[in-house]
Amino acid sequence: MCGIIGINSSKPVSATIINSLKKLEYRGYDSAGIATLSSGLINEVKSEGRVDNLEKNSSVLNMEGTIGIGHVRWATHGLPNSINAHPHSSQNVSVVHNGIIENSTLLKKFLVGRGHKFKSQTDTEVIVHLITENLKTENIVNSIKKTLKALHGSFALGIIFKDEPDLIVGARRGSPLAVGYGPNENYLGSDSYALKSMTNKITYLNDGEFCVIKKDHIEFFNEDGTKINKKVLELSSEEEKYDKGDYKHFMAKEIEEQPVTLKNGIKEYIDNANNDINIYNIPWEKNEISSITLIGCGTAYHSCLMAKYWFEELTSLDVNVDIASEFRYRKNRFKKDSLYIFVSQSGETADTYAALDLCNKNGMKTCAVVNVIESSIARDSEFVLPIHCGTEIGVASTKAFLGQILILYILALKLGQLRGDLEKKVLSEKIKSLKELPKLVEKTLSIDSKIQNVSTTFNEAKGSMFLGRGFSYPIALEGALKLKELSYVHAEGYPAGEMKHGPLALIEEGMPVVVLAPRDNYYKKTISNMQEVIARGAKVLLITNKSSDEIVSENIWQTIEVESTNQDLLPFLLTIPLQKLAYYSALKKGFDIDKPRNLAKSVTVE
Ligand code: G6P
Repeated sequence: MCGIIGINSSKPVSATIINSLKKLEYRGYDSAGIATLSSGLINEVKSEGRVDNLEKNSSVLNMEGTIGIGHVRWATHGLPNSINAHPHSSQNVSVVHNGIIENSTLLKKFLVGRGHKFKSQTDTEVIVHLITENLKTENIVNSIKKTLKALHGSFALGIIFKDEPDLIVGARRGSPLAVGYGPNENYLGSDSYALKSMTNKITYLNDGEFCVIKKDHIEFFNEDGTKINKKVLELSSEEEKYDKGDYKHFMAKEIEEQPVTLKNGIKEYIDNANNDINIYNIPWEKNEISSITLIGCGTAYHSCLMAKYWFEELTSLDVNVDIASEFRYRKNRFKKDSLYIFVSQSGETADTYAALDLCNKNGMKTCAVVNVIESSIARDSEFVLPIHCGTEIGVASTKAFLGQILILYILALKLGQLRGDLEKKVLSEKIKSLKELPKLVEKTLSIDSKIQNVSTTFNEAKGSMFLGRGFSYPIALEGALKLKELSYVHAEGYPAGEMKHGPLALIEEGMPVVVLAPRDNYYKKTISNMQEVIARGAKVLLITNKSSDEIVSENIWQTIEVESTNQDLLPFLLTIPLQKLAYYSALKKGFDIDKPRNLAKSVTVE
């Protein structure tokens, strides 16, 4: 997945393109590039690595041109080097692309046969040559129409043409794309966020649509080349300011911001005066839903798994959880009384979006739990519950995770209440405890020194395990994911009770194992499983909550105690030491914490 930008202006564009690319780096950061049109020629500058490298390139400083396109890349086809960086250009056409062209090998064969010469290993380059080929016989709109028809796979495209000094083409299938309207200049971008410093007047392209961007107007077309009208949306013009403040990394800041994330969510969704829940506009009657399927990817999938435990505990609904990339290709039995909940920080994850699209096409009820409210997933869901945690920059999700599970917990309470599964008194007690949660998270955040000490053992080990049962199991998975994302060491989350069916064979003398054993219904069982790994030589870091009851176990290597609250809410508190463990492990290794290798914040390819 990649980020694209295009500007058609009467002023020089290269500096503005570079600034917008910096905002798009969350989509990919292995190379960056820019192409502008000046004196009737396409000029290209590309660099391996971050946008900073591109900016330092002396050729960019001298780049002229009032029309241009830019790109940040997350490699799919071909190494992340400057040759494979976008834009890709022929003499006549230059293209930036986000997505994957699945029939690129066949198309390349055809184009090579027609005398086209390829420079890169990318799938994107076929688009350049196909347009160039089609332009031999067609006008711009028809050549684009013909090219898009020949492409299989997904794309968001920005295209400029040597002989067209006032024209950028944008096209979308699968990958998101927005256009923006400015004063005598217009824009193209992967999202409105990249365009925000220039405009808040936005139109989103739908799948199959393309557009022609001139300085003073924009025309839209559907797949068959018919002109269409589209609405201009006016987004909030407030640009969210974000900087690291006194923190070394965004991730550290985002971890510490979690009490505020929870406070914001509680303020939005809890009616303080009446100890009730502020979700009134659910578009379905309670008897229209008998089952729920929660769908997400990565950390958002762990939020879904966490929610399953709560929905099952607090409601009488049947609950399923699915990884979006699996769901979208399975033979699903769509039932009228099912609600599908899509969880996503960015709201743009390709697999999650495709799963939503599939549900929409099958007439299902859809709900989105997202952070970015202008995102594709939010726009195309019937009902949206925003998590309000502000922009999350660190690729490894932290505050968005807590924000997601908070909203899902509140939704479970609401559905339990509506269905009559939760007694009024019980609900009121649970809401009371929830209101205390931000304070408890804040207190738990002060556990740094102990975590710093143990983190070396984790990043020096060959591998580690994270174990939990019940409510703690999804958190164990999330803890292991955080450690591998940031420290590049193998870490595996597992249900503690399942160890004896295989993974126990991995345990050897000195292997670090995190055991999540809060004093909940599963406590005694988890402690027994902990004994089993200690007996086989594991170095156990036990994470539990504060209690006057002593822990009856010997040979625990280290214990960390989080604050205490009711059983439902303990997962929020257990998450904190695991986020910090991953953070300090990576910090000690000197790794790039906010942008771990090979990853991206928003995954817009499947
Ligand atoms: C990427 C990010 C993860 C995130 C996942 C799903 O892999 O690095 O942090 O959990 O995508 O993203 P979403 O935006 O849908 O929550």
